[in-house]
Amino acid sequence: MIKTDLKLFKKEAEKEINSAQSLKELNEIFKRYLGEKGEIRKFFRLLKGLSGKERKEKGRLLNELKKEIERKFAQKKKIFQVAKKTLEEWFDITAPGERPALGHLHPLTLVRRKIEGIFQMMGFSVVEGPEIETEWYNFDALNIPKDHPARDLVDTLWLKNQKSKIKNQKLLLRTHTSPVQIHFMEKNQPPLRTIAPGRVFRHEATDASHEHTFYQVEGLLVDKNVSLANLKGILEFFMKRFFGENVMLCWQPSYFPFVEPGLELLMRCSVCSGNGCSTCNNSGWLEVIPCGMVHPNVLKNSGLNPKFWKGFAFGMGLDRLVMMKYKINDVRLFYSGDLRFLNQF
Ligand code: PHE
Repeated sequence: MIKTDLKLFKKEAEKEINSAQSLKELNEIFKRYLGEKGEIRKFFRLLKGLSGKERKEKGRLLNELKKEIERKFAQKKKIFQVAKKTLEEWFDITAPGERPALGHLHPLTLVRRKIEGIFQMMGFSVVEGPEIETEWYNFDALNIPKDHPARDLVDTLWLKNQKSKIKNQKLLLRTHTSPVQIHFMEKNQPPLRTIAPGRVFRHEATDASHEHTFYQVEGLLVDKNVSLANLKGILEFFMKRFFGENVMLCWQPSYFPFVEPGLELLMRCSVCSGNGCSTCNNSGWLEVIPCGMVHPNVLKNSGLNPKFWKGFAFGMGLDRLVMMKYKINDVRLFYSGDLRFLNQF
């Protein structure tokens, strides 16, 4: 056992350690060199036959060799361990990330904002009114006689055991946004141009085209020399802006106690393209904007002199306009909270 032997041995061992391909392989090599029956042990055993001085010297060399080989093993082991850990923790930084779910506006809100924008462009302001109303604002002031069917309990949701402090009136959930007309005329002097979007409530059985709670956008314009031609002009302009130039419209006479004359603006049903479906009651047309010239009694009830002032009003059904815009055939979807529906907007 001479020095060169040990050097050679060391080189051999290092070569083997370096060529190990796995931790398992490395462990086997370790056993072979440093195990109970390993090569190094064999060398130590040989020391027994040597004289004191020589044994000391060779023993020192052998110990050094042993330590060095151990160090090499430790180094290589570390490489495998780091590699294993990296592999476990590895993730693909080039993989596309998951998009965070962003909130978005409800179709009713989207369309309300669009409508507001078109009317604001024409000089209309946007106002709001209360959802709880008195009989006076919801009916009397709007020239709706006491015996009018709209007063029937079937249509109106009355608030039990609650009376308004003003005029000791019965309270109800507004059945339309028209009472905002009265509030606005009481507080403002003509010329007036305003729209009032809001929720309305009716005591109704629900189906694909009826909800107990829905939205209207009320419109009111009061000025001198206002005519039906102005009303038609403004609403037709609105419809073309909202649906595009090719929208098919149709006017028909109608009746509402608070307007005279009363009209209804119809559009061709977009769900069936006019062929007839359940949304348009198989007629191919859908009433979207009831309207008319403000009745003189309504002006009077709001403190305006009908001799000086004329006006027109309309009360479009927001839900219906959204249905026509996006070809939706069931109004109940709006309030369902169904994400499969909502995520499409
Ligand atoms: N308020 C009426 C309704 O809810 C609609 C309407 C408004 C009609 C304004 C004419 C003028 O049915």
